[in-house]
Amino acid sequence: MSKDYSKYFHKPSLKEAVDRKKEIIINKDGLDVPSDMVNVGKDKKYFIRTYGCQGNEADSEVIAGILEFLGYKKSNEVEDADVVLLNTCAVRENAEEKVFGEIGALKKLKVVKPDLVFGICGCMAQQEHVVEKILKSYPQVDLVFGTHNINRLPLLLKDALLNKERVVEVFSNKSVIYENLPVARSNNLKAWVNIMYGCDKFCTYCIVPYTRGKERSRLMEDILKEVRDLKDKGFKEVTLLGQNVNAYGNDLNKGYDFASLLKEVSKVGIERIRFVTSHPWNFTDEMVDVISKCDNIMPYIHLPIQSGDDEVLRRMGRRYKYEEYKKLYNSLRDKVKGCSISTDIIVGFPNETEEQFNNTLRAVKELEYDSAYTFIYSPREGTPASKMEDNVSEEEKKRRFNLLVDAVSESAKKRNDGYVGRVLKVLVEGYSKKNKNILSGYSEENKLVNFKGKEEMIGKIVEVKITTSKTWTLEGEAIDG
Ligand code: 5AD
Ligand code: SF4
Repeated sequence: MSKDYSKYFHKPSLKEAVDRKKEIIINKDGLDVPSDMVNVGKDKKYFIRTYGCQGNEADSEVIAGILEFLGYKKSNEVEDADVVLLNTCAVRENAEEKVFGEIGALKKLKVVKPDLVFGICGCMAQQEHVVEKILKSYPQVDLVFGTHNINRLPLLLKDALLNKERVVEVFSNKSVIYENLPVARSNNLKAWVNIMYGCDKFCTYCIVPYTRGKERSRLMEDILKEVRDLKDKGFKEVTLLGQNVNAYGNDLNKGYDFASLLKEVSKVGIERIRFVTSHPWNFTDEMVDVISKCDNIMPYIHLPIQSGDDEVLRRMGRRYKYEEYKKLYNSLRDKVKGCSISTDIIVGFPNETEEQFNNTLRAVKELEYDSAYTFIYSPREGTPASKMEDNVSEEEKKRRFNLLVDAVSESAKKRNDGYVGRVLKVLVEGYSKKNKNILSGYSEENKLVNFKGKEEMIGKIVEVKITTSKTWTLEGEAIDG
Protein backbone atom coordinates (compact mmCIF):
# COMPACT_ATOMS: atom_id res chain seq x y z
CA MET A 1 0.00 0.00 0.00
CA SER A 2 1.41 3.40 -0.84
CA LYS A 3 1.86 5.72 2.08
CA ASP A 4 0.05 9.01 2.45
CA TYR A 5 2.39 11.95 2.20
CA SER A 6 -0.18 14.67 1.51
CA LYS A 7 0.05 16.32 4.92
CA TYR A 8 3.59 17.55 4.52
CA PHE A 9 3.69 17.71 0.79
CA HIS A 10 5.54 20.85 -0.20
CA LYS A 11 7.34 20.45 -3.48
CA PRO A 12 10.29 22.64 -4.36
CA SER A 13 9.90 25.23 -7.08
CA LEU A 14 12.83 26.68 -9.00
CA LYS A 15 10.61 29.60 -10.02
CA GLU A 16 9.77 30.48 -6.42
CA ALA A 17 13.40 30.03 -5.46
CA VAL A 18 14.36 32.99 -7.65
CA ASP A 19 12.23 35.31 -5.53
CA ARG A 20 14.55 37.38 -3.31
CA LYS A 21 12.55 38.71 -0.36
CA LYS A 22 13.99 41.72 1.44
CA GLU A 23 13.64 40.85 5.08
CA ILE A 24 15.61 38.16 6.88
CA ILE A 25 14.15 36.53 9.96
CA ILE A 26 16.50 35.27 12.62
CA ASN A 27 14.91 32.47 14.59
CA LYS A 28 16.65 31.85 17.91
CA ASP A 29 14.08 29.43 19.34
CA GLY A 30 16.30 26.40 18.89
CA LEU A 31 14.92 22.95 18.24
CA ASP A 32 11.20 22.14 18.44
CA VAL A 33 10.81 18.56 19.67
CA PRO A 34 7.29 17.03 20.02
CA SER A 35 6.89 15.36 23.41
CA ASP A 36 6.52 11.88 21.92
CA MET A 37 9.83 12.30 20.09
CA VAL A 38 11.92 12.91 23.22
CA ASN A 39 14.39 10.04 23.45
CA VAL A 40 12.77 8.25 20.49
CA GLY A 41 16.25 7.27 19.32
CA LYS A 42 17.26 5.48 22.53
CA ASP A 43 19.18 2.29 21.60
CA LYS A 44 18.93 3.24 17.92
CA LYS A 45 21.49 4.42 15.42
CA TYR A 46 21.74 6.85 12.52
CA PHE A 47 23.93 6.97 9.44
CA ILE A 48 24.46 10.05 7.26
CA ARG A 49 26.31 10.04 3.94
CA THR A 50 27.36 13.51 2.80
CA TYR A 51 28.01 14.53 -0.80
CA GLY A 52 29.39 17.80 -2.16
CA CYS A 53 30.63 20.97 -0.54
CA GLN A 54 31.61 22.04 2.98
CA GLY A 55 28.18 23.66 3.34
CA ASN A 56 26.70 20.18 3.17
CA GLU A 57 29.25 18.83 5.64
CA ALA A 58 28.25 21.56 8.06
CA ASP A 59 24.54 20.79 7.51
CA SER A 60 25.21 17.10 8.18
CA GLU A 61 26.72 18.01 11.54
CA VAL A 62 23.52 19.88 12.44
CA ILE A 63 21.38 16.94 11.26
CA ALA A 64 23.57 14.61 13.34
CA GLY A 65 23.23 17.01 16.30
CA ILE A 66 19.43 16.88 16.02
CA LEU A 67 19.39 13.07 15.80
CA GLU A 68 21.70 12.77 18.81
CA PHE A 69 19.44 15.19 20.68
CA LEU A 70 16.62 12.71 20.02
CA GLY A 71 18.75 9.93 21.52
CA TYR A 72 20.20 8.30 18.37
CA LYS A 73 23.85 7.23 18.28
CA LYS A 74 26.11 7.49 15.27
CA SER A 75 26.76 4.34 13.27
CA ASN A 76 29.70 3.92 10.93
CA GLU A 77 27.97 1.09 9.09
CA VAL A 78 24.87 1.80 7.05
CA GLU A 79 23.56 -1.76 7.77
CA ASP A 80 23.38 -1.06 11.53
CA ALA A 81 21.37 2.15 11.26
CA ASP A 82 17.69 2.79 11.98
CA VAL A 83 17.72 6.17 10.24
CA VAL A 84 19.71 6.52 7.01
CA LEU A 85 20.06 9.93 5.37
CA LEU A 86 21.78 10.92 2.15
CA ASN A 87 22.70 14.61 2.23
CA THR A 88 22.97 15.31 -1.48
CA CYS A 89 24.67 17.69 -3.92
CA ALA A 90 23.12 19.03 -7.14
CA VAL A 91 25.99 21.01 -8.56
CA ARG A 92 26.81 18.52 -11.34
CA GLU A 93 24.98 15.63 -12.94
CA ASN A 94 27.50 12.96 -11.89
CA ALA A 95 26.93 13.89 -8.22
CA GLU A 96 23.21 13.26 -8.74
CA GLU A 97 23.79 9.99 -10.57
CA LYS A 98 25.87 8.70 -7.67
CA VAL A 99 23.01 9.44 -5.28
CA PHE A 100 20.41 7.69 -7.45
CA GLY A 101 22.76 4.69 -7.62
CA GLU A 102 23.02 4.68 -3.84
CA ILE A 103 19.24 5.00 -3.37
CA GLY A 104 18.89 1.93 -5.58
CA ALA A 105 21.58 0.00 -3.72
CA LEU A 106 20.08 0.77 -0.30
CA LYS A 107 16.68 -0.63 -1.27
CA LYS A 108 17.74 -3.99 0.14
CA LEU A 109 18.12 -2.46 3.63
CA LYS A 110 14.39 -1.76 3.72
CA VAL A 111 13.69 -5.39 2.95
CA VAL A 112 15.71 -6.58 5.93
CA LYS A 113 14.57 -3.73 8.17
CA PRO A 114 11.09 -2.49 7.19
CA ASP A 115 11.07 0.05 10.05
CA LEU A 116 14.17 1.77 8.78
CA VAL A 117 13.63 5.44 7.90
CA PHE A 118 15.41 6.22 4.65
CA GLY A 119 15.65 9.91 3.80
CA ILE A 120 17.05 12.20 1.12
CA CYS A 121 18.00 15.79 1.97
CA GLY A 122 20.31 18.54 0.69
CA CYS A 123 20.42 20.32 -2.65
CA MET A 124 18.96 17.55 -4.83
CA ALA A 125 15.82 17.65 -2.71
CA GLN A 126 15.34 21.30 -3.70
CA GLN A 127 14.71 20.45 -7.34
CA GLU A 128 11.23 19.66 -8.62
CA HIS A 129 12.26 17.07 -11.19
CA VAL A 130 14.35 15.16 -8.64
CA VAL A 131 11.56 15.02 -6.07
CA GLU A 132 9.12 13.87 -8.75
CA LYS A 133 11.51 11.12 -9.83
CA ILE A 134 11.99 9.94 -6.23
CA LEU A 135 8.26 9.87 -5.58
CA LYS A 136 7.55 7.99 -8.78
CA SER A 137 10.38 5.51 -8.96
CA TYR A 138 11.91 5.07 -5.50
CA PRO A 139 9.26 3.88 -3.02
CA GLN A 140 12.02 2.91 -0.57
CA VAL A 141 12.50 6.62 0.26
CA ASP A 142 10.35 7.59 3.27
CA LEU A 143 11.50 11.13 3.85
CA VAL A 144 12.54 14.03 1.62
CA PHE A 145 13.49 17.37 3.11
CA GLY A 146 15.32 20.38 1.72
CA THR A 147 18.10 22.69 2.82
CA HIS A 148 15.61 25.06 4.51
CA ASN A 149 13.80 22.44 6.58
CA ILE A 150 16.55 20.92 8.70
CA ASN A 151 15.21 22.53 11.89
CA ARG A 152 11.92 20.65 11.40
CA LEU A 153 13.53 17.22 11.31
CA PRO A 154 11.99 16.03 14.64
CA LEU A 155 8.49 16.76 13.31
CA LEU A 156 9.14 15.21 9.92
CA LEU A 157 10.77 12.16 11.46
CA LYS A 158 7.81 11.77 13.77
CA ASP A 159 5.44 11.32 10.86
CA ALA A 160 7.78 9.02 9.01
CA LEU A 161 8.42 6.96 12.13
CA LEU A 162 5.38 6.99 14.35
CA ASN A 163 2.66 7.69 11.80
CA LYS A 164 4.29 5.69 9.00
CA GLU A 165 3.65 8.44 6.47
CA ARG A 166 5.78 9.26 3.49
CA VAL A 167 7.02 12.77 4.20
CA VAL A 168 8.10 15.36 1.64
CA GLU A 169 8.79 18.86 2.85
CA VAL A 170 10.83 21.16 0.67
CA PHE A 171 10.19 24.87 0.90
CA SER A 172 11.74 27.29 -1.53
CA ASN A 173 13.54 30.46 -0.50
CA LYS A 174 12.79 30.74 3.17
CA SER A 175 14.55 33.92 4.30
CA VAL A 176 15.13 32.53 7.76
CA ILE A 177 18.28 31.83 9.72
CA TYR A 178 17.98 29.25 12.49
CA GLU A 179 20.27 29.78 15.45
CA ASN A 180 20.82 27.49 18.42
CA LEU A 181 20.33 24.15 16.70
CA PRO A 182 22.40 21.30 18.15
CA VAL A 183 25.60 20.38 16.29
CA ALA A 184 27.50 17.07 16.47
CA ARG A 185 30.94 18.03 15.16
CA SER A 186 32.83 15.30 13.38
CA ASN A 187 36.29 16.67 14.23
CA ASN A 188 37.49 17.97 17.59
CA LEU A 189 40.27 20.21 16.25
CA LYS A 190 38.70 21.91 13.25
CA ALA A 191 35.15 23.28 13.01
CA TRP A 192 32.95 24.68 10.27
CA VAL A 193 31.23 27.96 11.13
CA ASN A 194 28.54 29.13 8.74
CA ILE A 195 28.66 32.89 8.43
CA MET A 196 26.00 33.11 5.72
CA TYR A 197 23.65 30.96 3.69
CA GLY A 198 22.50 31.02 0.08
CA CYS A 199 23.87 32.87 -2.92
CA ASP A 200 22.62 35.84 -4.96
CA LYS A 201 25.25 35.76 -7.71
CA PHE A 202 23.29 33.60 -10.18
CA CYS A 203 26.30 32.54 -12.27
CA THR A 204 24.53 31.23 -15.36
CA TYR A 205 25.67 27.60 -14.97
CA CYS A 206 25.02 27.24 -11.25
CA ILE A 207 22.05 25.66 -9.44
CA VAL A 208 23.10 26.83 -5.95
CA PRO A 209 21.14 30.14 -5.86
CA TYR A 210 18.01 28.06 -6.53
CA THR A 211 18.71 25.22 -4.09
CA ARG A 212 20.14 27.26 -1.22
CA GLY A 213 18.04 30.38 -1.65
CA LYS A 214 18.67 34.01 -0.91
CA GLU A 215 21.97 35.27 0.45
CA ARG A 216 21.50 35.80 4.18
CA SER A 217 24.17 36.60 6.74
CA ARG A 218 24.24 35.58 10.37
CA LEU A 219 24.64 38.38 12.88
CA MET A 220 28.26 39.07 13.77
CA GLU A 221 27.52 38.62 17.49
CA ASP A 222 26.18 35.08 16.88
CA ILE A 223 29.23 34.11 14.83
CA LEU A 224 31.64 35.50 17.43
CA LYS A 225 29.84 33.65 20.20
CA GLU A 226 30.18 30.38 18.29
CA VAL A 227 33.90 30.95 17.64
CA ARG A 228 34.49 31.84 21.34
CA ASP A 229 32.70 28.64 22.41
CA LEU A 230 34.78 26.58 20.00
CA LYS A 231 37.99 28.11 21.30
CA ASP A 232 36.93 27.42 24.90
CA LYS A 233 36.25 23.80 23.97
CA GLY A 234 39.81 23.44 22.64
CA PHE A 235 39.23 23.72 18.89
CA LYS A 236 42.32 24.99 17.07
CA GLU A 237 40.81 26.00 13.76
CA VAL A 238 37.59 27.44 12.36
CA THR A 239 36.62 27.67 8.70
CA LEU A 240 34.12 30.45 8.02
CA LEU A 241 31.66 29.12 5.46
CA GLY A 242 29.49 30.65 2.78
CA GLN A 243 28.95 30.29 -0.98
CA ASN A 244 30.45 33.75 -1.27
CA VAL A 245 31.90 34.84 2.07
CA ASN A 246 33.16 38.14 0.68
CA ALA A 247 29.53 39.31 0.35
CA TYR A 248 29.06 38.78 4.11
CA GLY A 249 26.93 41.50 5.70
CA ASN A 250 25.69 43.08 2.44
CA ASP A 251 22.15 41.99 3.29
CA LEU A 252 22.21 43.16 6.90
CA ASN A 253 22.58 46.94 6.81
CA LYS A 254 24.53 46.86 10.06
CA GLY A 255 27.59 48.73 8.78
CA TYR A 256 29.85 45.69 8.87
CA ASP A 257 31.25 43.50 6.11
CA PHE A 258 33.58 40.51 5.71
CA ALA A 259 36.68 42.60 6.50
CA SER A 260 35.14 43.74 9.80
CA LEU A 261 34.04 40.19 10.60
CA LEU A 262 37.52 38.78 9.93
CA LYS A 263 39.07 41.42 12.20
CA GLU A 264 36.69 40.55 15.05
CA VAL A 265 37.03 36.78 14.62
CA SER A 266 40.80 37.24 14.66
CA LYS A 267 40.57 39.07 18.01
CA VAL A 268 38.83 36.05 19.58
CA GLY A 269 42.30 34.52 19.47
CA ILE A 270 41.60 31.04 18.10
CA GLU A 271 44.80 29.67 16.54
CA ARG A 272 43.68 29.32 12.94
CA ILE A 273 41.00 30.98 10.83
CA ARG A 274 40.18 29.93 7.30
CA PHE A 275 37.33 30.87 4.99
CA VAL A 276 35.65 29.54 1.81
CA THR A 277 34.51 30.45 -0.81
CA SER A 278 35.52 33.85 -2.13
CA HIS A 279 33.99 35.47 -5.17
CA PRO A 280 36.56 37.80 -6.78
CA TRP A 281 33.89 40.43 -7.44
CA ASN A 282 33.33 41.13 -3.71
CA PHE A 283 36.99 40.96 -2.65
CA THR A 284 37.94 44.44 -1.39
CA ASP A 285 41.42 45.90 -0.75
CA GLU A 286 40.47 46.16 2.90
CA MET A 287 39.86 42.41 3.07
CA VAL A 288 43.28 41.76 1.52
CA ASP A 289 44.75 44.11 4.09
CA VAL A 290 43.09 42.39 7.07
CA ILE A 291 44.13 38.92 5.85
CA SER A 292 47.72 40.10 5.45
CA LYS A 293 47.89 41.68 8.91
CA CYS A 294 46.20 39.13 11.20
CA ASP A 295 48.57 36.30 12.10
CA ASN A 296 45.80 33.83 12.88
CA ILE A 297 44.09 34.27 9.48
CA MET A 298 45.71 31.56 7.42
CA PRO A 299 47.58 32.45 4.22
CA TYR A 300 45.41 30.34 1.96
CA ILE A 301 42.71 31.60 -0.38
CA HIS A 302 40.33 29.68 -2.59
CA LEU A 303 39.57 32.07 -5.44
CA PRO A 304 37.48 30.48 -8.22
CA ILE A 305 38.35 31.81 -11.67
CA GLN A 306 36.03 29.44 -13.66
CA SER A 307 37.52 30.58 -17.01
CA GLY A 308 40.45 32.64 -18.26
CA ASP A 309 38.50 34.04 -21.23
CA ASP A 310 36.58 37.32 -20.99
CA GLU A 311 33.76 36.31 -23.33
CA VAL A 312 33.16 33.02 -21.48
CA LEU A 313 33.33 34.86 -18.15
CA ARG A 314 30.71 37.31 -19.45
CA ARG A 315 28.42 34.47 -20.55
CA MET A 316 28.96 32.76 -17.19
CA GLY A 317 27.79 35.95 -15.46
CA ARG A 318 30.97 36.14 -13.38
CA ARG A 319 31.17 40.00 -13.36
CA TYR A 320 34.96 40.28 -13.84
CA LYS A 321 37.46 40.18 -16.68
CA TYR A 322 40.61 38.10 -16.61
CA GLU A 323 42.86 41.14 -16.08
CA GLU A 324 40.79 42.22 -13.06
CA TYR A 325 41.02 38.73 -11.58
CA LYS A 326 44.77 38.70 -12.19
CA LYS A 327 45.19 42.03 -10.44
CA LEU A 328 43.43 40.72 -7.33
CA TYR A 329 45.37 37.44 -7.52
CA ASN A 330 48.70 39.25 -7.71
CA SER A 331 47.80 41.61 -4.89
CA LEU A 332 47.01 38.58 -2.69
CA ARG A 333 50.31 36.95 -3.64
CA ASP A 334 52.19 40.23 -2.95
CA LYS A 335 50.51 41.29 0.27
CA VAL A 336 49.64 38.02 2.02
CA LYS A 337 53.15 36.73 2.59
CA GLY A 338 53.72 33.13 1.57
CA CYS A 339 50.08 32.56 0.71
CA SER A 340 48.83 29.69 -1.38
CA ILE A 341 45.92 30.03 -3.78
CA SER A 342 43.58 27.45 -5.23
CA THR A 343 40.75 27.78 -7.72
CA ASP A 344 37.77 26.22 -9.50
CA ILE A 345 37.71 25.92 -13.29
CA ILE A 346 34.98 24.77 -15.66
CA VAL A 347 35.86 23.51 -19.15
CA GLY A 348 33.47 22.94 -22.01
CA PHE A 349 31.04 25.74 -21.18
CA PRO A 350 28.44 25.90 -24.02
CA ASN A 351 30.05 26.85 -27.34
CA GLU A 352 33.49 27.36 -25.75
CA THR A 353 35.93 27.73 -28.66
CA GLU A 354 39.42 26.25 -28.83
CA GLU A 355 40.82 29.76 -28.48
CA GLN A 356 38.70 30.48 -25.41
CA PHE A 357 39.82 27.23 -23.82
CA ASN A 358 43.44 28.12 -24.61
CA ASN A 359 42.95 31.38 -22.73
CA THR A 360 42.01 29.32 -19.65
CA LEU A 361 45.03 27.10 -20.13
CA ARG A 362 47.24 30.16 -20.50
CA ALA A 363 45.78 31.67 -17.31
CA VAL A 364 46.58 28.48 -15.34
CA LYS A 365 50.15 28.54 -16.59
CA GLU A 366 50.53 32.25 -15.93
CA LEU A 367 49.00 32.30 -12.43
CA GLU A 368 50.63 29.09 -11.11
CA TYR A 369 47.97 27.90 -8.70
CA ASP A 370 48.78 25.69 -5.73
CA SER A 371 45.83 23.53 -6.68
CA ALA A 372 42.60 23.62 -8.66
CA TYR A 373 39.30 21.78 -8.74
CA THR A 374 38.54 21.20 -12.40
CA PHE A 375 35.13 20.33 -13.82
CA ILE A 376 33.53 19.56 -17.14
CA TYR A 377 30.49 21.79 -17.55
CA SER A 378 27.29 20.00 -16.58
CA PRO A 379 23.93 21.50 -17.66
CA ARG A 380 21.61 22.07 -14.68
CA GLU A 381 17.88 22.21 -15.33
CA GLY A 382 16.43 25.68 -14.77
CA THR A 383 19.72 27.59 -15.13
CA PRO A 384 20.25 30.07 -18.03
CA ALA A 385 23.31 28.19 -19.35
CA SER A 386 21.31 24.98 -19.75
CA LYS A 387 19.32 26.75 -22.49
CA MET A 388 22.42 27.92 -24.37
CA GLU A 389 23.35 26.23 -27.62
CA ASP A 390 26.38 23.95 -27.24
CA ASN A 391 28.44 22.81 -30.22
CA VAL A 392 31.32 21.25 -28.26
CA SER A 393 31.34 17.45 -28.30
CA GLU A 394 31.77 15.40 -25.10
CA GLU A 395 34.98 13.98 -26.53
CA GLU A 396 36.40 17.43 -27.09
CA LYS A 397 35.40 18.49 -23.58
CA LYS A 398 37.26 15.48 -22.16
CA ARG A 399 40.33 16.33 -24.25
CA ARG A 400 40.32 19.90 -22.92
CA PHE A 401 39.75 18.64 -19.38
CA ASN A 402 42.79 16.35 -19.57
CA LEU A 403 44.98 19.17 -20.88
CA LEU A 404 43.78 21.34 -18.03
CA VAL A 405 44.44 18.66 -15.40
CA ASP A 406 48.01 18.29 -16.71
CA ALA A 407 48.59 22.05 -16.52
CA VAL A 408 47.19 22.23 -12.98
CA SER A 409 49.31 19.27 -11.82
CA GLU A 410 52.42 20.85 -13.28
CA SER A 411 51.86 24.13 -11.47
CA ALA A 412 50.93 22.38 -8.19
CA LYS A 413 54.17 20.36 -8.30
CA LYS A 414 56.19 23.46 -9.08
CA ARG A 415 54.64 25.33 -6.14
CA ASN A 416 55.22 22.36 -3.82
CA ASP A 417 58.87 22.07 -4.91
CA GLY A 418 59.36 25.57 -3.49
CA TYR A 419 58.62 24.26 0.03
CA VAL A 420 61.44 21.72 0.17
CA GLY A 421 63.96 22.71 2.85
CA ARG A 422 61.50 25.07 4.53
CA VAL A 423 59.86 24.70 7.94
CA LEU A 424 56.03 24.72 8.00
CA LYS A 425 53.65 24.85 10.95
CA VAL A 426 51.38 21.81 10.84
CA LEU A 427 48.22 21.14 12.84
CA VAL A 428 48.61 17.41 13.47
CA GLU A 429 45.36 15.50 12.98
CA GLY A 430 46.53 11.93 13.46
CA TYR A 431 48.25 9.13 11.61
CA SER A 432 48.37 9.19 7.82
CA LYS A 433 45.61 7.15 6.17
CA LYS A 434 48.14 5.19 4.13
CA ASN A 435 50.92 4.65 6.67
CA LYS A 436 50.28 4.11 10.36
CA ASN A 437 53.83 5.18 11.32
CA ILE A 438 53.52 8.60 9.73
CA LEU A 439 51.72 11.64 11.16
CA SER A 440 49.61 13.88 9.02
CA GLY A 441 48.12 17.37 9.10
CA TYR A 442 47.69 20.63 7.25
CA SER A 443 50.15 23.53 7.14
CA GLU A 444 49.04 27.14 7.43
CA GLU A 445 49.07 27.25 3.61
CA ASN A 446 46.62 24.31 3.55
CA LYS A 447 49.25 21.84 2.33
CA LEU A 448 48.74 18.25 3.42
CA VAL A 449 51.99 17.28 5.16
CA ASN A 450 52.96 13.69 6.04
CA PHE A 451 55.88 13.48 8.42
CA LYS A 452 57.83 11.50 10.98
CA GLY A 453 57.02 12.60 14.52
CA LYS A 454 55.82 11.50 17.95
CA GLU A 455 52.32 10.41 18.93
CA GLU A 456 52.00 13.21 21.52
CA MET A 457 52.11 15.72 18.66
CA ILE A 458 48.55 14.78 17.66
CA GLY A 459 46.23 17.73 18.28
CA LYS A 460 49.09 20.25 18.39
CA ILE A 461 50.65 22.68 15.96
CA VAL A 462 54.24 21.56 15.34
CA GLU A 463 57.10 22.67 13.10
CA VAL A 464 57.96 20.30 10.27
CA LYS A 465 60.96 20.52 7.99
CA ILE A 466 59.91 19.64 4.45
CA THR A 467 62.14 17.08 2.75
CA THR A 468 60.15 15.91 -0.29
CA SER A 469 57.47 17.40 -2.52
CA LYS A 470 54.78 15.52 -4.42
CA THR A 471 52.10 17.02 -6.64
CA TRP A 472 49.40 17.17 -3.95
CA THR A 473 51.29 16.52 -0.70
CA LEU A 474 54.51 17.32 1.13
CA GLU A 475 56.69 15.06 3.28
CA GLY A 476 59.01 15.94 6.11
CA GLU A 477 60.30 15.48 9.64
CA ALA A 478 59.19 17.15 12.85
CA ILE A 479 61.85 19.55 14.14
CA ASP A 480 61.42 18.16 17.67
CA GLY A 481 60.90 14.63 16.37
N1 5AD B 1 28.96 22.37 -14.20
C1 5AD B 1 30.24 22.18 -13.83
N2 5AD B 1 30.79 22.72 -12.74
C2 5AD B 1 30.01 23.51 -11.98
N3 5AD B 1 30.27 24.19 -10.85
C3 5AD B 1 29.14 24.81 -10.46
N4 5AD B 1 28.15 24.55 -11.32
C4 5AD B 1 28.66 23.75 -12.28
C5 5AD B 1 28.13 23.15 -13.45
N5 5AD B 1 26.88 23.34 -13.81
C6 5AD B 1 31.60 24.23 -10.22
C7 5AD B 1 32.12 25.66 -10.15
C8 5AD B 1 31.99 25.98 -8.70
C9 5AD B 1 32.21 24.63 -8.06
C10 5AD B 1 31.74 24.50 -6.65
O1 5AD B 1 31.50 23.75 -8.90
O2 5AD B 1 33.48 25.64 -10.55
O3 5AD B 1 32.93 26.95 -8.25
FE1 SF4 C 1 27.20 29.25 -7.84
FE2 SF4 C 1 28.28 31.56 -8.69
FE3 SF4 C 1 26.94 31.47 -6.32
FE4 SF4 C 1 29.33 30.24 -6.54
S1 SF4 C 1 28.97 32.48 -6.74
S2 SF4 C 1 27.45 29.39 -5.61
S3 SF4 C 1 29.30 29.50 -8.69
S4 SF4 C 1 26.09 31.17 -8.37
